[in-house]
Amino acid sequence: MLTTGQYATMRGITVGEQKKTLRGADVGIPPRQLDFRLNEEMPRWLYAGNATATLFLVVLSGAFPPGEDFFVQSVNRFKHRVTDPTLRAQVAGFTGQEVIHSREHDRLNDVFRSRDIDVDVPEKAIALALRLLDLLPARQRLACTAQMEHLTALLAEELLSHEDFRTRIHDDLTELWIWHALEELEHKSVSYEVYETIGNSRRERVLAEVLVDATIIPAALVSWIWLVLAEGVWRRPRDIRDGVRMLFGPGGFVGRIIPRVGVFRKPDFHPDRHDTTALEAEWRERLFGPDGTLRDQLRRRA
Ligand SMILES: [Fe+2]
Ligand SMILES: [Fe+2]
Repeated sequence: MLTTGQYATMRGITVGEQKKTLRGADVGIPPRQLDFRLNEEMPRWLYAGNATATLFLVVLSGAFPPGEDFFVQSVNRFKHRVTDPTLRAQVAGFTGQEVIHSREHDRLNDVFRSRDIDVDVPEKAIALALRLLDLLPARQRLACTAQMEHLTALLAEELLSHEDFRTRIHDDLTELWIWHALEELEHKSVSYEVYETIGNSRRERVLAEVLVDATIIPAALVSWIWLVLAEGVWRRPRDIRDGVRMLFGPGGFVGRIIPRVGVFRKPDFHPDRHDTTALEAEWRERLFGPDGTLRDQLRRRA
């Protein structure tokens, strides 16, 4: 016999307090349909005029489409195990945000391609590394995703809380990277929460870090070196020295995250233990508040 709720659902009838399905936007993870028009006239070396550092961003941008696809698939693989409506909505929001990030980075990657910067190299190298991770059991893939989401959250926090990235990147690209960083913080705990749902294992987390270090990091490093050689930057050691210092030196956004990467291995790790809500609120206001720089673009799309 049908319950009242089942009957009502079958007939499309709303009964009493029948709850609506929560969406990502209801739980603070709204997929925002943005549409960045990238200026074809941007300079070739769009990070402080430095080729080495720009090519590092090419590697990052090339890594996002295959990487985010992997994240979404490994989280959604366990969607059926998530019964909490809030977490289900967070998974939906996370999925929507990552899909839009990939689309916008694909566009940026097309700009790199149009100027013969070989972004296919990092894209294919990362895709190959991910294919190796794909051979792992689904639980371990999810642990790897949680670890890589930890890395992206650390990078995102750096981009939002320090000025060095924002002052060095070309003005036409600032908002794309900053919007992506904000959303990475908004959904930073989703993959980890799903991992908790299926039973968090510290052994798998430690292994995840080893596996990511053995696959993704070398793929990124090798493709960066390949691009530096292909672009003839090796003939300009000063560019290499300045670029590496800008990224990994004391004032560099990559160098600053290195001491924090290992917290993922701690027994009591949880992404929310490090509170970034004030930083997120600040940037939501700066991008999408009444005077937000992306507010019009979002409204146009809506
Ligand atoms: Fe993303
Ligand atoms: Fe993410």
